[in-house]
Amino acid sequence: MTRVEPAATAVKHPLEPLTAAEITAAVDVLRAERGLTASTRFVSIALREPAKEAIRDGEGAAVDREAFVIALNLDDGLTYEGAVSLTDRAVRSWEAVPGVQAQVTMDEFFACEEIVKNDPGYREALAARGITDTDTLMVDPWSAGNYGDEVEGRLLRALSWVRLDGPDDNGYAHPVENLIAYVDLHARRVAKIEDHGVVPVPRAPGNYTPDAAAPLRHDLRPLEITQPEGTSITVDGHEVGWQKWRLRVGFTPREGLVLHTVSYQDRSVLHRASLAEMVVPYGDPAPTHSRKNAFDAGEYNIGALANSLELGCDCLGEIHYFDAVLADCDGEPVTLRNAVCLHEEDYGLLWKHFDFRTEKAETRRSRRLVISFVATVGNYEYGFYWYLYQDGTIQCEVKLTGIMSTGAVAPGQRPSHGQLLTSEGLYAPIHQHFLNFRLDFDVDGPHNSVQEVHTEADPPGPGNPLGNAFRSRATVLARESQAQQVIDPLSARTWKVINPSVRNAVGEPVGYRLVPGANVLPFAAGDASVSRRAAFATKHLWVTPYRQAERHPAGDYPNQHAGGAGLPEWTRADRPIEDTDVVVWYTLGSHHSPRLEDWPVMPVQYAGFTLAPDGFFDHSPALDVPPPSGDGHCTP
Ligand code: NI
Repeated sequence: MTRVEPAATAVKHPLEPLTAAEITAAVDVLRAERGLTASTRFVSIALREPAKEAIRDGEGAAVDREAFVIALNLDDGLTYEGAVSLTDRAVRSWEAVPGVQAQVTMDEFFACEEIVKNDPGYREALAARGITDTDTLMVDPWSAGNYGDEVEGRLLRALSWVRLDGPDDNGYAHPVENLIAYVDLHARRVAKIEDHGVVPVPRAPGNYTPDAAAPLRHDLRPLEITQPEGTSITVDGHEVGWQKWRLRVGFTPREGLVLHTVSYQDRSVLHRASLAEMVVPYGDPAPTHSRKNAFDAGEYNIGALANSLELGCDCLGEIHYFDAVLADCDGEPVTLRNAVCLHEEDYGLLWKHFDFRTEKAETRRSRRLVISFVATVGNYEYGFYWYLYQDGTIQCEVKLTGIMSTGAVAPGQRPSHGQLLTSEGLYAPIHQHFLNFRLDFDVDGPHNSVQEVHTEADPPGPGNPLGNAFRSRATVLARESQAQQVIDPLSARTWKVINPSVRNAVGEPVGYRLVPGANVLPFAAGDASVSRRAAFATKHLWVTPYRQAERHPAGDYPNQHAGGAGLPEWTRADRPIEDTDVVVWYTLGSHHSPRLEDWPVMPVQYAGFTLAPDGFFDHSPALDVPPPSGDGHCTP
């Protein structure tokens, strides 16, 4: 094949996300070579990241630029995936993937709503509930899951709410309980309606706009963040520098924000870190809610649902925004403005000591780099925040907000598996949010091991005459089966990723410690459908040897999948994970037993974990942070 001028690939680094021109080129090449028609609907088009070695070999190396494409063919109903070389303008692969359902697209969100609103049977069931104006209906496209009793097709399980008071009314205050429509997106019809009986639609408003919340408190004075000399951040394309940190910002439709090649003083820490999957299982056995368990990454492409962030609202101060370039269903590039927010924040105290004899104090203020995005998945918002600190710490924080998915019981009744929100019967079912983060560590290089570290008390005896003794114990996790672990706060359990070949000043391997925060396990039964499909959530820690293809802990296509794919499948081989290129998968569970205070829009609930250097440095790396400005010291 003749090499064509690589016009569309004038990018600086192999990890730069696809440009709009590259998305267009990928679609043009696919259409031309494979004769695709308008029946091919594009689900996602993203950079096919080059092999790790190619990235490590550095910039400027000749790396083939490739687009990874997932599409739906409306004619044969099949999911297709393939790769297009943008360097050679050639299709590298294009194949149907039998037996899977691709992620739900934004087009399908809207199509589902229209199909349901126009279905005579559904309208009849609505009329029985006193709803005759379907324009007021909000139809949420819940994924159908896999229970073995579904009708055939590319399914969504549609649930409805009503806007009783105009187009801006919060419809989640008015759930249509017990009415479920299975929509077949390929046949474009309602395949099945379940009506489990009329429950009156709660009518009390649940609005949250300023006019609804009035009178607003009036005692807030301006708080302004100013950086008159600009920020301490450098940005070149998607490469970010901040003090001793270097990283690259990436963004995929499926994961949203991705951190690549995170290093401190040119020492690598993480090769790649991202949200890899999530699932939100509901604990309510009532028919409307018992199958609610959305996989927001693998079923809905949470990155494609990212918000365009606004200065002064989502982000405060001197902000650098990254746009995300995605593809719509026609394969047209779509630029999502301000999808990722990058800024720095004052974070209070970094360290301090006051010498009471000399009365001299040394105080340093902490500053952190914040890289974030926010996605709206139907009723809920998820904010994903990565923080880098001056002491080498990396923190991941998820901010859960938005509106709870609601249901209704008859007035005067109480729900058995949720919190009553109004006296009319509006309630929020109990549920959990499980987020799995894929952390491809490269602690001072790719060859790492993982230790379980906990603290234990010494038994009483001659070596412990006062009974005060306790010590930290570390055990190397040799195989995948050993690395399937859960948190143990009472033994102060952490996990430590070490590089056995690189030693610190005291002769110990350098490492980074994974410190869990609050966490929880699923309450769903082991043989429940969601437990099979989201097996990743049954353990907080998994460790696998790096494989380029192993990216999605619930499998590549969890939508309508029976389960067992991803982590449970890969780790069945029980591969060795010692002194090799390891990938750590951390499951973060946020338990949500709803409160009245979560209604009508939920104040942020936080969940997260921390990666802290542990013998990575020979002493505090934050010593060289200068004293606060002014005359140099804070001592009066
Ligand atoms: Ni929740």
